[in-house]
Amino acid sequence: MRTFPLLFSLLFIFFIQHHLQAVAELCSTFSCNQHRRDPILFPFWVPDNQTSRCGYPGFGLSCNSAGQTLLPFKPDHLIVQGISYPDQLIWVSDPNHCIPKRVLEFSYSELMPFGYGPYDSAYTFLNCSGPKVDPDQLPGGVSVISCMSGGNYTVVVAFDDVSEAKMRRKCEVVKKVNAAFWWRGMEYGVFPMDMSDVFVQLSWDVPSCVNCMLRGGSCGLVGDSGLEVGCYLPASSGLPKSAKYGLMLGAGIPGFLCIIGLTFYISSRVSARNQNRHYSNTESSPSIFPQPIIITLGLDAPTIESYPKTILGESKRLPKPSDNTCPICLSEYEPKETLRSIPDCNHYFHAECIDEWLRMNATCPLCRNSPQASSALAGS
Ligand SMILES: *[C@@H]1O[C@H](CO)[C@@H](O)[C@H](O)[C@H]1NC(C)=O
Ligand SMILES: *[C@@H]1O[C@H](CO)[C@@H](O)[C@H](O)[C@H]1NC(C)=O
Ligand SMILES: *[C@@H]1O[C@H](CO)[C@@H](O)[C@H](O)[C@H]1NC(C)=O
Repeated sequence: MRTFPLLFSLLFIFFIQHHLQAVAELCSTFSCNQHRRDPILFPFWVPDNQTSRCGYPGFGLSCNSAGQTLLPFKPDHLIVQGISYPDQLIWVSDPNHCIPKRVLEFSYSELMPFGYGPYDSAYTFLNCSGPKVDPDQLPGGVSVISCMSGGNYTVVVAFDDVSEAKMRRKCEVVKKVNAAFWWRGMEYGVFPMDMSDVFVQLSWDVPSCVNCMLRGGSCGLVGDSGLEVGCYLPASSGLPKSAKYGLMLGAGIPGFLCIIGLTFYISSRVSARNQNRHYSNTESSPSIFPQPIIITLGLDAPTIESYPKTILGESKRLPKPSDNTCPICLSEYEPKETLRSIPDCNHYFHAECIDEWLRMNATCPLCRNSPQASSALAGS
C-alpha cells in the first residue's frame, strides 16, 4: 500500500508545524506581569521560562514577584521600565531609588551588550559641603541628588558647562560621566528637582531588527544553534494572528480530514492505474510557517548612491529651507560641498556623513523614516 508513507508524512508535517508554532508562540508572548502587558520580544528573553533559542546572549531578563521585569546587573539588578524595539532602546531604574549612584559605578564593559547610545551627554557630579542646599536656590541646569547627600553636604549634578562653572565656586567636582539619563519632560528642556529616581536609557546595536520590524516581521535565531538572526515575516497577506488561528482551526482540521479522505481515494485510484504522481500534493500545500529571511544591517552602496545628491552653490542655498548645519557632523555646509538627501523625508546631510550612517543603519538619523522599507516592499 502506498497510502502509508504519504499519510505518515502528512501527519509528520502537521505535528512539526504545530510544534514550531508552539515554540514561536512561547518566544513571542512571554510577559512578567499577569496582564500580559509588555511582552518580552527578541533579542530579550527570560532564561527561567524560555529556551535559549528565544533570545540573544547578553539579553536575558528575569521577573520578580511584583511582576516587574528585571535586567540582571552587578551588584544589583535594574528594573526595566520600558523597551522600544524599533528604536533599540531600553529604560531602566534602580530598585534602591538612587540611579545616579549606580551610573557612577558602571563601567562600559559591564554595560555590554548595551551602551548609552546616541542620546548620551556629559553630566558633572559635584559635592557641596556645608548646610543643605535649597533646590530652589540652585541655578538652572543643576539638580540635587538627595539620595547621595548627607546632613552637611549635598551632591548635585550639572547638565552643562555654564552651570558646572557656577557650581565649581562652592562645590568640588566628584566625577564627570557620559551617560543617558531620562526623565519625563526632558525633551522640553525641563530638569527634574531631584535626580535620585530618574531612568537611564540604554541602547543596543547588535542584533539589529529595525529593518525587519519596519517590514512588519519579527526577529529570531535561525535553526537550532549559532547566532544567525532571521526575519520572520508574517505568513500570507498580513492577517491578524487571531484570524490565522481561526483559519488553522476552521480550515486546517477539516482540511486535514479532507486530505486524509482524498489521499485514500486518490491512492486507491492511482494505484489501480499504476501511476505515482500524487506525491507532489504535499509540496504544493500552502506554507503556514514564515520563512526566515536573513537581514542586513544597513543599505548597500547602489541604494545609497541612488539617493539624490546636491552640489552646493556659492549661495549655499538648499532646495528645502533648513538650517545650514549637517546634523551628523555638526559642521556648517560650505559652497561646493556635496550633500545628499533622503527620499521621502527630504532631510539633508553631507554626503560623506550620511553615506557612512546608511551603511550601518537603514533609517534617516533625524526622523527614523526608512527609505528602504518602502522600496523593498514595492520591489517584493
Ligand atoms: C517562570 O519560571 C519561574 C521559575 O522557574 C516560575 O516560578 C514562574 O512561575 C514562571 N512563570 C511563568 C509565567 O511561567
Ligand atoms: C561628599 O563629601 C562628604 C564630606 O564632606 C563625604 O562624606 C561624601 O562621601 C562625599 N560624597 C561624594 C559622592 O563624594
Ligand atoms: C556634620 O554635621 C554634624 C551635625 O549634624 C556635625 O557634628 C559634624 O561635625 C559635621 N561634619 C562636618 C565634616 O562638618
